[in-house]
Amino acid sequence: MTTTPTIELKPSSAPLSDAEREAILANPGFGRHFTDHMVTIKWTEGRGWHDAELTPYAPLSMDPANMTLHYAQEIFEGLKAYRRPDGTVSLFRPESNAERFQLSARRLAMPELPVETFVAACDALVRQDIDWVPEHGGESSLYLRPFMIANEVGLGVKPANEYLFIVIASPAGAYFPGGVRPVSIWLSEDRVRAVPGGIGFAKTGGNYAASLLAQAEAAEKGCDQVAYLDAVEHKWVEELGGMNLYFVYGDRIVTPELTGSLLAGITRDSLLRLAEDLGYTAEEGRLTIDDWRRDSENGTLTEVFACGTAAVITPVGLVKSRDGEWTQSDGKPGEVTLRLRKALLDIQTGAAEDVHGWTHHL
Ligand code: PLP
Ligand code: COI
Repeated sequence: MTTTPTIELKPSSAPLSDAEREAILANPGFGRHFTDHMVTIKWTEGRGWHDAELTPYAPLSMDPANMTLHYAQEIFEGLKAYRRPDGTVSLFRPESNAERFQLSARRLAMPELPVETFVAACDALVRQDIDWVPEHGGESSLYLRPFMIANEVGLGVKPANEYLFIVIASPAGAYFPGGVRPVSIWLSEDRVRAVPGGIGFAKTGGNYAASLLAQAEAAEKGCDQVAYLDAVEHKWVEELGGMNLYFVYGDRIVTPELTGSLLAGITRDSLLRLAEDLGYTAEEGRLTIDDWRRDSENGTLTEVFACGTAAVITPVGLVKSRDGEWTQSDGKPGEVTLRLRKALLDIQTGAAEDVHGWTHHL
């Protein structure tokens, strides 16, 4: 059933005071604070989507035998609401997140939420908690986290017959504190994130759980992020734990093609189009770790950057692997990286015209 339920506001909310909220917005960090409300929508077999509510943000009460806790039937999304120069608020490509959410749902044997319901739920939450959208300027935003969990109780391994869709929101400053600082990358040569035929293309918690040990190893090596290689030949560069990668060869930018084991990032897709607007050639391709090192060292690979909703565009400055390390672009943010970053952020925040129709006004 694909009817869109009406989202009802349940009152009795006790929001934070203006002063408390302002104190949080002055230094929100990433994913540490949450707004006053949330949206929940239920799905039950035979009934479809129902009971759409906008309620005060509150803990969930859950049976210890809830299937999500045991078998990880869970998917999520990440998108941002930005304050525009005229004070209004817009979302960046929410329909694309809604479509990817459906793709993830299919892979995880979950019901598909209609695109318009996904977007309506995001809109309803942002409208209600609009004072949580930071001021225009910089890259501050309100990060939205729609997600869906199985809501059946039982230990049998099967798709659940009940689900809960929730949207929560969190004010976000820069994902990497310290502004546009090049990040260091640890190359995970043994531990893979996803396998062919697996769930790598879906945005589901299991992929992130699979990435945590390598991320902890990266931190031990003094690196910020992990780059994953393909699971078969252990040589093709795929993506980072929470971001896609781009390789800049002068005026040509290349991103690893979607093989099924990496996430089809919406930022990645936006850049394929935006780069052409700025006069660069943008393409999807395949690149081995040996290509990366060789081309960096011979100077043809002029810049490397990571991109994603949370991280926007972040230059890569250093790569470390078992066999040694190399500096990328003298460890400094590159010109193409910074130009693309500004062009993207300007569209997202409403500082520049959006010719692609990516902006969703509230
Ligand atoms: N790859 C992974 C594994 C991610 O978690 C993300 C973040 O959402 C991305 C890539 C970038 O995707 P997007 O640009 O849609 O945020
Ligand atoms: C995002 O960029 O939205 C992500 O989901 C990345 C990370 C926070 C997991």
